[in-house]
Amino acid sequence: MKFFIDTADLDEIKEANDLGVLDGVTTNPSLCAKIGVRDFEGHIAKICEMVAGDVSAEVVSTEYDEIVEEGRNIAKIADNVVVKVPLIKDGIKAIKTFSEEGIKTNCTLCFSPTQALIAAKAGATYISPFLGRLDDISTEGMQLIRDIVTIYDNYGYETEVLAASIRHPMHLLECAKEGADVATMPLGVIKSLLKHPLTDIGLDRFLADWDKLQKSLEE
Ligand code: E4P
Repeated sequence: MKFFIDTADLDEIKEANDLGVLDGVTTNPSLCAKIGVRDFEGHIAKICEMVAGDVSAEVVSTEYDEIVEEGRNIAKIADNVVVKVPLIKDGIKAIKTFSEEGIKTNCTLCFSPTQALIAAKAGATYISPFLGRLDDISTEGMQLIRDIVTIYDNYGYETEVLAASIRHPMHLLECAKEGADVATMPLGVIKSLLKHPLTDIGLDRFLADWDKLQKSLEE
């Protein structure tokens, strides 16, 4: 399973990358706004240099011609950039064009299995179903992941299931059990995957016992 970090913050990306388990980055216009990105292309270029894996950068156009122009420019930023395109009619048409041009895409804002099916037919590299936002409206986000994995397996689509809007470690655990190819998570969720109170208690005890042993050997 690939781990992506869902942020535009360079310090967070560095911290996650330093762990040695980061496979890529996803950004979106809200995440860029959150940290006040001024030079979008320059900022994405920096992220692409920092990590070896795929970096999603989202278009803000909503009409086919503009999406294609914007996406082609984003694609020139680096070899590991992925053009993130919303799951709307013109977005799907643009994804088909990008796919024919060999430009990698991440089809975002997916909330239904049939949307995911169309994105795969258009040749999206990644589909991003948003778990947390479905849970937010009392709809089981995980069912969407299950359905997409089943449908893609049924027909052998190569589009990778990139579970997004992950809010806590249980989301990640369920996605891993269901076979999502990728999970994109905030830094806090990535770090929370490491935590277990028995690990902390156990380590304290090991170190205390080791100290005791050293002291007894000195006597
Ligand atoms: C995915 O690519 C999105 O950037 C992100 O996961 C959305 O998460 P949110 O619903 O927590 O904003």
